[in-house]
Amino acid sequence: MCGIIGYIGEKNCVPILLNGLKRLEYRGYDSAGLALINNGTASVIKNKGKVSLLQEKVDSLNLSAKLGIGHTRWATHGVPNEINAHPHHNHKKNLFVIHNGIIENYQTLREGLRQMGYSFLSETDSEVLPHLIDSFLQKGFDLFKAVRLALSEVEGTYGIAVIYEGEPNKIVAARKGSPLIVGVGENENFVASDVSAILAHTKQVAYLEDGELVEIYKDKFITKTISDTEIAKEVHEISMTLDQIDKGGYPHFMLKEIMEQPDSVTNSLRGRILFKKGTAKLGGLESVTEQLTNSKRIIISACGTSWHSGLVGEYMLEQFARIPTEVEYASEFRYRNPIITPEDTVFFISQSGETADTLAALREAKIRGALVLGICNVVGSSIARGSMAGVYIHAGPEIGVASTKAFTSQLIVLALITLLIARKKHLSLIDGKSIAEELKNIPQKIEEILKLNSHIEMIAEQFKDAKNFLYLGRGYNFPVALEGALKLKEISYIHAEGYPAAEMKHGPIALIDENMPVVFIAPKDSTYEKIVSNIEEIKARKGRIIAIASQSDNEIDKLVDYTIKVPDTIRMLMPILTVIPLQLLAYHIAVKKGLNVDQPRNLAKSVTVE
Ligand code: AGP
Ligand code: GLU
Repeated sequence: MCGIIGYIGEKNCVPILLNGLKRLEYRGYDSAGLALINNGTASVIKNKGKVSLLQEKVDSLNLSAKLGIGHTRWATHGVPNEINAHPHHNHKKNLFVIHNGIIENYQTLREGLRQMGYSFLSETDSEVLPHLIDSFLQKGFDLFKAVRLALSEVEGTYGIAVIYEGEPNKIVAARKGSPLIVGVGENENFVASDVSAILAHTKQVAYLEDGELVEIYKDKFITKTISDTEIAKEVHEISMTLDQIDKGGYPHFMLKEIMEQPDSVTNSLRGRILFKKGTAKLGGLESVTEQLTNSKRIIISACGTSWHSGLVGEYMLEQFARIPTEVEYASEFRYRNPIITPEDTVFFISQSGETADTLAALREAKIRGALVLGICNVVGSSIARGSMAGVYIHAGPEIGVASTKAFTSQLIVLALITLLIARKKHLSLIDGKSIAEELKNIPQKIEEILKLNSHIEMIAEQFKDAKNFLYLGRGYNFPVALEGALKLKEISYIHAEGYPAAEMKHGPIALIDENMPVVFIAPKDSTYEKIVSNIEEIKARKGRIIAIASQSDNEIDKLVDYTIKVPDTIRMLMPILTVIPLQLLAYHIAVKKGLNVDQPRNLAKSVTVE
């Protein structure tokens, strides 16, 4: 959930660590800290709040060191404060540990350590680690072995980095369930939970797997398993550039990412449509296409926005691929003893590829013998690597906590997968070609919708003080109603609900009065007449209405207070267009309320705890 960075080399690591932490802030943050070893002497400095506050503190001390580790914390055990912030240390204050994840048996370990005479300063689960490692150092083991033996007693998840005054030429790091990479430089090496933290210094990266430990020196690194077998690690070249993770001139990452959608969607489509054959080509699925096409059932499992894209996927797959499809929250799926057979395919959708619930559900599906496929954004992420095959959405780094461009790219990939299966089954060449053509036109249609930005900003001004919002849609646009409501509540803290429009009269209609804004997703499709009736029902009760409607629809303006018109496309692709005004509406309302759009309260980008 947090961010980890470590450096060993010839340079002063203090600015390197602080800049790396700033790059990692999007992952989750309530406090931050550094531990440094300079000429054999260790120091630690921590702060509640943002990295910029830590920076102020560090600047006033004029620190310098060639070995150090840094951490941003998203608390799981103990309130966010300076004492609970990482790094944590042993009683001699010569061994420092940063930890990402949760130590499940920390109470048992704490008890055992207390009996050995150790005492604790913080409320965190993580603080058992420096003491446990210390207990092995006391028995005469070297740092690497002490870490290995300590971790063999730990249950739970961790990405850790450890430094020790007694062995000031190395960082020891380990991973189980939390991402960790080694960055390889010239006479300097790094450890980090994410490439963005070290991209300014190197593009050479080795990915640690669960159950692996690494001993990092300035000129080499040695990887071993927890059972002490040495393994050779491949070093990969990263293609991501720093520009890609900068705000690119926009005031917020979220706006940048919304505006980027013509490009991100183009990247998701690139090289994947075979126009003449009216089908899709997905390299990552080639080895499993037959098994996928013959699946008796498809299950899609995910969380949050990715779950919403899964719902749209269900409509697509059932309509065109004619395979029964279910969509499950990953957190529910894993605990309810699901019926899965080897004839099933289970897709896991995740922007980050690190969501703990999704990862755990993936493991469950694998044990039960299903074909397990991933749809991820982050290349090399745990879900991507844990899947038997899969498709990257290629949306580029998504930094804003509220997911936007990942959603539209997930929908593109789901449409491509649907097209691929449907054409292998019974979809005609002509119909396949028309879907392919429509897919090709999506980026330019998104471009058109983005031109409505200032119109949507004007609407946001009218509604920024609302206390509640209702989002209604039918068919393919029902998941869009859910996603629109999620976007608004995440960043504007306005209570919002999404419903299938017809369900309104079964309960939510009781809420309607002149203070309740209702957003209708009402493009001209086969459910249009019905949704117009739902609009009339709201009007009769004085609700204020915003409609997302088709460009060709001139009638709807008379019925509603505000309209946002989107170009037409085929029904299965409509959510890719109708969601865009909802992203912008949520964005502008949050900005007008003066809120921190990119880092909303209580939320983290990558939810790596259950
Ligand atoms: C989206 O705006 C949310 N912040 C959240 O619901 C997110 O979609 C969810 O946590 C799943 O993340 P993932 O796609 O990285 O697995
Ligand atoms: N469980 C640890 C804590 O609460 C680490 C949390 C994190 O991953 O940031 O301090």
